[in-house]
Amino acid sequence: MKTVYVFNGPNLNLLGTREPQIYGAQTLADVEALCRKACEQHGLKLDFRQSNHEGELVTWIHEAGRAQAQGQAVGTVLNAGAYTHTSIALHDAIKGAGALVIELHISNVHAREAFRHHSYISPAAKAVMAGFGVPGYALAIAGLAQA
Ligand code: DQA
Repeated sequence: MKTVYVFNGPNLNLLGTREPQIYGAQTLADVEALCRKACEQHGLKLDFRQSNHEGELVTWIHEAGRAQAQGQAVGTVLNAGAYTHTSIALHDAIKGAGALVIELHISNVHAREAFRHHSYISPAAKAVMAGFGVPGYALAIAGLAQA
């Protein structure tokens, strides 16, 4: 059974209490449960993580790229949080590791502040999803299942 990685960046541990009018009321544990269900439906194994540290996310992307190269993983759903808009290191990690990444955002970043309109992840990503709320994670996993 192949693995799907779901990596969440900074502040996503605060889901449920963080600006619920933007991100909704579901917690990160709820997101994990939803991802687990989606993976089960597609015959995939879930590896779900969250970090507030850029370097840790870089290391995880390297790991995901290696697993993919060995035929053990289908790809990664990455919600890089605010690092989306700042991190050349994450861009380089995705390209360098050859990781197949779906960039995901709970909110529609293009309907928000101008500083959220640019993404360093998008040019390195296979696909980009934004604005479907938490259910977007399941949609991204469905996309990876047939990628
Ligand atoms: C986010 C959007 C980012 O701009 C923000 O910094 C986040 C969450 C989203 O899921 O909508 O932390 O990635």
